[in-house]
Amino acid sequence: MDIQQIFKNNQNWVQEKLSIDSNYFSNLSKGQSPDILYIGCSDSRVTAEELMGVSPGEAFVHRNIANMVPNTDLSAMSVIEYAVLHLKVNHVVICGHYYCGGVKAAMQSQDLGILNPWLRNIRDVYRTHRKELNDIQDEDQRYKRLVELNVQEQCINVIKTAAVQRAYRERGLKVHGWVFDINSGKLIDLKVEFNKIMENVMEIYHLD
Ligand code: CO
Repeated sequence: MDIQQIFKNNQNWVQEKLSIDSNYFSNLSKGQSPDILYIGCSDSRVTAEELMGVSPGEAFVHRNIANMVPNTDLSAMSVIEYAVLHLKVNHVVICGHYYCGGVKAAMQSQDLGILNPWLRNIRDVYRTHRKELNDIQDEDQRYKRLVELNVQEQCINVIKTAAVQRAYRERGLKVHGWVFDINSGKLIDLKVEFNKIMENVMEIYHLD
């Protein structure tokens, strides 16, 4: 890639935005009040704003390998805390994607060094849903299902946090589980049964 081209692209983009609205950037600089926290995969094919059709300022974004929300990950936990308590987003989205390399790697036994503990979180999802996954004969279908179940489990990890529980009680914040299908470009709502999960996990994870 020609890195200089990126700066040319940027100049063109600035001109394009200013030709539509001369105050575009001065307005952006005034602050942000996004309504959505989007947690997705770092995969270069899965953009956040572009696939949702939203503009700068509309989504607070966190991306990592395989859209994980590990319970002790300071980065993910800080993003959730800031977005929910300070920016007061009303929606938290976990967006996974089919053909996710992170999920694929967790289904294989190769030693990947520092990636091992990260991928272990996905292996834990596999273990939790081992029966359902092992019953799927077709390997591609099993791979896809693990992507979906991983999204569901990360939604649960989001719900475990005190900030999200409080925002749920106080203003009805919602947690959504989505999958982006790279092969069709479509965004699929997994319709994670938020209220049911909430009731189910609250017995164990409830925080005042
Ligand atoms: Co991925």
